[in-house]
Amino acid sequence: MSWPLTVAFALVVLSTGCHGDMDWPGFEGELDWWQKAVFYQIYPRSFKDSDGDGISDLKGITNNLVHVYNLGAAAAWLSPIYKSPMKDFGYDISNYEEIDPIFGTIDEFKALVARAKELGIKIIMDFVPNHSSDQHEWFQKSIKREDPYTNYYVWADPKIDADGNRKPPSNWISVFGGPAWEFVEERGQYYLHQFDPSQPDLNLTNDLVVEELLSAMDFWMDLGVGGFRVDAVNHMFEADGFPDEPRNNQSGVNDPNDYGYLDHIYTKDDPRCYGVIERFRARVDAFAAESDNVTRVLMTEAYTSIENAMKYFGNETVPGSHMPFNFLLINNLGRWAKNFSDAVSLWMDNLPERGWANWLVGNHDQHRAATRYAPELVDALNMIITLLPGTGVTYYGEEIGMENTFVTWQETQDPQGCNAGPDHYQEKSRDPERTPFQWNDEPFAGFTSGNSTWLPVNPNYVKLNVKAQELETVSHINIYKQLLSVRETPTAQKGDLSIRTIGDHLFAFTRNYPDEEGLLVLVNLGLEEMNNVNLQTVFDKLPEEATVKITSIFSKVIAGETVDTKDMTLLPNEGLVLGISSE
Ligand code: NOJ
Ligand code: MG
Repeated sequence: MSWPLTVAFALVVLSTGCHGDMDWPGFEGELDWWQKAVFYQIYPRSFKDSDGDGISDLKGITNNLVHVYNLGAAAAWLSPIYKSPMKDFGYDISNYEEIDPIFGTIDEFKALVARAKELGIKIIMDFVPNHSSDQHEWFQKSIKREDPYTNYYVWADPKIDADGNRKPPSNWISVFGGPAWEFVEERGQYYLHQFDPSQPDLNLTNDLVVEELLSAMDFWMDLGVGGFRVDAVNHMFEADGFPDEPRNNQSGVNDPNDYGYLDHIYTKDDPRCYGVIERFRARVDAFAAESDNVTRVLMTEAYTSIENAMKYFGNETVPGSHMPFNFLLINNLGRWAKNFSDAVSLWMDNLPERGWANWLVGNHDQHRAATRYAPELVDALNMIITLLPGTGVTYYGEEIGMENTFVTWQETQDPQGCNAGPDHYQEKSRDPERTPFQWNDEPFAGFTSGNSTWLPVNPNYVKLNVKAQELETVSHINIYKQLLSVRETPTAQKGDLSIRTIGDHLFAFTRNYPDEEGLLVLVNLGLEEMNNVNLQTVFDKLPEEATVKITSIFSKVIAGETVDTKDMTLLPNEGLVLGISSE
């Protein structure tokens, strides 16, 4: 069902003119729900605690899901809530068909789905095919070579050096640092873990494993989920024979335990990864076809090259991921308009005919966008990710401009931080972006009724919280809601795209759709005020007057005012969304 439609969603490059002008045509046809959607990512430990243990849970999420609805988001993606020893906070699954008691029960999950249904929101499960927990029954039985589990994981014999000492099968390093191989006496072999030692890599060359995963997907689809965010998909296969990887001379990393030390030519981006995603896609499509014909969406996570990212869409005949995440804006693009326009163009130019764009600036693995860029740029960044053509993805807290939280070494939870040690944990830890959601100015930001939280609450909650912003007419959250309502228009959903830059810091784009009001989005990424900006010099057929629709919180212009597109002023960090009459 959704595939032939998707094929028609052509967004191909129209022209890349000699003045750096970049234009892409609009889209004709019907959009599916996930294309119009903004996905709101909930970090399940940090949304809302209902039982006072300082960790958020399903009840807390269900009772506050209306927040997602109020924003106008169409789906909530939950990072993993499966049964887990929580070594990597849920990305180490010990049972793919159970909820961890920290979060609640299956009945509470059903209540969440029921509430979501009432609100017209879809629940998206995270899904982790690359590895399970070492506590998973499959792994425990695999250690004992109990069939059919014997080859469920990537096992290899030791190497023996000249002195007769046991050595790992290869020099591979794990993403979290240190060797990617761990020896198990009982089995007399090493197992591979591309992440934490508690996360053994599943052997996806074994069809039984893929079948297990597919049936877990069925399990959650039967319970009513709207799709899956699939974790670490480009780590799913490794080269046969486990050859040593070469040094990465570009990275500047000299610590042989650091992931950046090697060039991961044998452990990442194996061509077999795409095929597994295509099998997942076939399963979600089959489920939809056999039930209600509503697309169950697949969003895939791969930090990789643009060429590889696009391969996850599948090929002409076999569809893959609906949304390979676009991480180009999650890089540190600094304050340079050209970096933004190059990033957007890179994505748009490489998008296959059957592809659909998505935009995001943050997630639970990256420092908060407000901190990476600047707190003053929060509204502008939200304008960019919600008004470029394609699906938007928002990490909880971005709607209120949540910033990184300082976490001491003693308070550090993230294995990636812990492995780096007290001197380097701040460079690696992902805790700063995972702290409790800031609801109001009550103790612990209204996140818990208990007397502690699993990670500290950012002290800025006193002012920076949902309630305070909802009471202010001009606030990040209200701007965010306005953006999501503008997204409902045909212009935002299907309009064409033209990107221009002026000077080093002005990033500008228009969206136009026949017979509809157009949109002009302006972002001054710089720290200087820009005066006498003449947009007529860069955009063709731009009307002389435009109407202010949405501004940054500190803007001096106000919604409804008319501005002269030949003579604009932009404050430092300012973002403006203007309405332009259709030609
Ligand atoms: C990517 C996830 O987003 C991250 O949080 C996790 O640690 C790794 N994959 C391993 O599952
Ligand atoms: Mg709790």
